[in-house]
Amino acid sequence: MSESTYPSVKDLTLEEKASLTSGGDAWHLQGVEAKGIPGYMITDGPHGLRKSLTSSTGETDLDNSVPATCFPPAAGLSSSWNPELIHKVGEAMAEECIQEKVAVILGPGVNIKRNPLGGRCFEYWSEDPYLAGHEAIGIVEGVQSKGVGTSLKHFAANNQETDRLRVDARISQRALREIYLPAFEHIVKTAQPWTIMCSYNRINGVHSAQNHWLLTDVLRDEWGFEGIVMSDWGADHDRVASLNAGLNLEMPPSYTDDQIVYAARDGRIAPAQLDRMAQGMIDLINKARAAMSIDGYRFDVDAHDEVAHQAAIESIVLLKNDDAILPLNADPAAARKIAVIGEFARTPRYQGGGSSHITPTKMTSFLDTLAERGIKADFAPGFTLDMEPADPALESEAVETAKNADVVLMFLGLPEAAESEGFDRDTLDMPAKQIALLEQVAAANKNVVVVLSNGSVITVAPWAKNAKGILESWLLGQSGGPALADVIFGQGSPSGKLAQSIPLDINDDPSMLNWPGEEGHVDYGEGVFVGYRYYDTYGKVVDYPFGYGLSYATFEIADVAAAKTGANTATVTATVTNTSDVDASETVQVYVAPGKADVARPKHELKGFTKVFLKAGESKTVTIDLDERAFAYWSEKYNDWHVESGEYAIEVGTSSRDIAETVTVALDGDGKTQPLTEWSTYGEWEVDPFGAKIVAAVAAAGEAGELPKLPDNAMMRMFLNSMPINSLPTLLGEGGKKIAQFMLDEYAKLSK
Ligand code: BGC
Repeated sequence: MSESTYPSVKDLTLEEKASLTSGGDAWHLQGVEAKGIPGYMITDGPHGLRKSLTSSTGETDLDNSVPATCFPPAAGLSSSWNPELIHKVGEAMAEECIQEKVAVILGPGVNIKRNPLGGRCFEYWSEDPYLAGHEAIGIVEGVQSKGVGTSLKHFAANNQETDRLRVDARISQRALREIYLPAFEHIVKTAQPWTIMCSYNRINGVHSAQNHWLLTDVLRDEWGFEGIVMSDWGADHDRVASLNAGLNLEMPPSYTDDQIVYAARDGRIAPAQLDRMAQGMIDLINKARAAMSIDGYRFDVDAHDEVAHQAAIESIVLLKNDDAILPLNADPAAARKIAVIGEFARTPRYQGGGSSHITPTKMTSFLDTLAERGIKADFAPGFTLDMEPADPALESEAVETAKNADVVLMFLGLPEAAESEGFDRDTLDMPAKQIALLEQVAAANKNVVVVLSNGSVITVAPWAKNAKGILESWLLGQSGGPALADVIFGQGSPSGKLAQSIPLDINDDPSMLNWPGEEGHVDYGEGVFVGYRYYDTYGKVVDYPFGYGLSYATFEIADVAAAKTGANTATVTATVTNTSDVDASETVQVYVAPGKADVARPKHELKGFTKVFLKAGESKTVTIDLDERAFAYWSEKYNDWHVESGEYAIEVGTSSRDIAETVTVALDGDGKTQPLTEWSTYGEWEVDPFGAKIVAAVAAAGEAGELPKLPDNAMMRMFLNSMPINSLPTLLGEGGKKIAQFMLDEYAKLSK
């Protein structure tokens, strides 16, 4: 054994190799004591460290974990559109892992929010794979820059909690490649996460843990993944099949390593495959070794709280601000009398439920923050944070408090019981008692600002008329109180943008026809038309579109230009100007609209973004590069990405529905063609470069009397064009046979 590495798999016995492919316990790798290989700890994730304490009976106490900074869960952080900020969150989490001797933190989760009712939407990033991948990569790179590993999860297609342990997600290749895999693909190719966690569900009939196509063909052979794949907790149902498929590690252990040993002995597992899987585990342990050897490290609790605070500020999305009701003036001399209503202001909902639940190092509610900052406000809880009916006494107290104020800050949202890992919601609506209370409060005071706390989208339209201002604050982590006070009182401008559309009604969502499935399977019938890809393509009205978010500043985007940088690549430039007297950030979003295509493509798709901070009156030029993938779709015909030649519109704006300027580029295309055969239609022959010459030769031979003449009336031509040429005899008898043979012979000559 060298100084810096543990032994190679060659130095291990068969039993030792097998032992590396399952955990030592629920939260540790299995070390090989005899060879000095340690069994490091790996634990949740993803928005802070959840290192569980051990109960008095020696069991892991999932409800109690060591204090760790609670950063905003992805529902919030995804609205920041700020990968650098997310990187800082990752670095901070890694430092906490180093202190707690945790080698791998289990996250981030980058599954697509296929339907806003999904129970884990709060810990996933977006309905858009480009955004999910380009944000979550900040966590992976940030954590790993400190020598700690991440576990990109849940690979793949965990898009619902209903029946999550066994549901068969039936998804087309195209939807997988364009929607459900790209966030994973981008992060794997760019950042090489040390580990990936497979999902519980099946994909097209095969459990993810046993899915060779997923874990080996795509992940390793196509994308070049160099790390290890672990099972989600309890997702490995067949040790041998999983190991053969490419699963390195069963978590937690089922204490069945002997199955691997027997299978290796009787040839059901090839020696090379076991070596590969076990070596991956040794490599992982080697990578973590430096950070895990640091003793006595203490992270800076206040500095991390400040990172959480900044992250929370950027997570807040201003949905509505009529009469510029926000920001409020905090100066006591000028201040209006403030009422704060809603239990969430005192008891914040700041993280989601399930395996990601952590114990924060600090917790400052909005009310605490007001008190700390000497801002006076009258408070009434208004309702209880449970699913119980309304309490009339609390309601009348709230209405009285509202009457006596100039402005009301009303904290509404989803209580903990309403959303969590483990189940999907059955409604997008807020609890009825909160909506009813808002109605009463608005009748007593016209100046209401609603501050929302929820992990996933809720409907806003039914009650929006009762609020002049609406702040969507998602789940903001432990520093949400100060962050909200900063935004509400104008210390900072809101800059968050929606990572998910807010529909008017859940039944507008394209996945509802197949949600959450039946008889053990769910058909992803909407294909690639997820979220705004559906709403924008089919012109459906939404309440707030993808990418939307207001600011206290105003901006202008101008001088948009796109230049080709290669046959199928381009660079986009635009000037963005802060046209107000408030310093603030704006996110410039680039959508690619393919226009006419051989397959049904979404009207446009996000393919680039950049967040810029601009002082009042300042202008900056932004540049966004578009690679070949930005224009491609997954072709099931070619079983590959395909860029068609032609014009593509490039839209630059501030949401999927606020496009400032559109320019076009003409791309060469990737030149892929499919060989013509007897099964190609006459129309397909006509548009193929070789085929067109042959079609011309058929016409000439017809004129010369060497071949039968083809019909030239419009109706017959229509039939002809859609016919595989082996059907020509149906239309033309023996003559048709001759024409088809001629075409095939000529083609064979030309393509030689
Ligand atoms: C969750 C994972 C989590 C694991 C360990 C599973 O139930 O799906 O996200 O990392 O438990 O807590």
